[in-house]
Amino acid sequence: MRAADNDTPGNGASDGDLRLDPAEFIEANLRLAPVPALPEIRLYTAHPGSGLRRLLGFEDDNDTDKGTPEPQPPYWAYAWAGGTVLARYILDHPMTVAGRRVLDLGAGSGIVGIAAAKAGAREVIAAEIDRNGIAAIRLNAAANGVEIAILDKDITAGPPPAVDLVLAGDVFYGHEVALRVIPFLDRCLAAGIEVLVGDPRRVDLPLTRLRLLAEYQVPDFGDAKGAATRPSGVFRFEQEGH
Ligand SMILES: C[S@@+](CC[C@H](N)C(=O)[O-])C[C@H]1O[C@@H](n2cnc3c(N)ncnc32)[C@H](O)[C@@H]1O
Repeated sequence: MRAADNDTPGNGASDGDLRLDPAEFIEANLRLAPVPALPEIRLYTAHPGSGLRRLLGFEDDNDTDKGTPEPQPPYWAYAWAGGTVLARYILDHPMTVAGRRVLDLGAGSGIVGIAAAKAGAREVIAAEIDRNGIAAIRLNAAANGVEIAILDKDITAGPPPAVDLVLAGDVFYGHEVALRVIPFLDRCLAAGIEVLVGDPRRVDLPLTRLRLLAEYQVPDFGDAKGAATRPSGVFRFEQEGH
């Protein structure tokens, strides 16, 4: 999977063209559309004409060989299967979040946090390290009529946040990122914070630490149009040796 090629956190940016305003670019070039399998939520979504490479640091879509390092992929421009199932689960089971303080870890588009806010969470914080993603979360939250606070730094390096529930949608997409996320989630559990994970069983998913709560058939962002959907799970992350 392309996304696994680059999962270094903490640069706070996409190394793109800093002259472009990410919010203006997203509004002008992406399509605000309902998420397949989640029609309650609309997201600014990339399409073949979006020209995302301009935002990410290339002049045009054909300009691939200038020796420039690859920019951070636009994770935020698509709904990933893990976030989609977690959002679906929350909308179907609003008591999971109702009245609670929630962290959406690795928020991307903000899909999971938006579902939590719609389902009645008291407070939603979205943690995201990509500057373009942060702009997308702001726009997507506004488009869905919800309020989300944004934490724009690598929260996995620090102590657990002051929340009741951590929601982690598709954050095991790369080995390095999984190695950072698991100890952070362990610190959250130790602090009494519940942790739910949505994932289509990517290779770095720590299955031995997870209890399956629900499964849904949803498309993943890279699936071809009309491709068969695959089952993705919503899991509770539990202590080692549970
Ligand atoms: C695969 S995407 C999933 C996005 C969204 N949750 C979904 O399911 O559609 C993972 C996201 O995690 C973000 N991310 C990676 N490491 C992070 C970190 N340490 N803190 C916050 N976000 C991080 C990436 O920038 C990316 O947007």
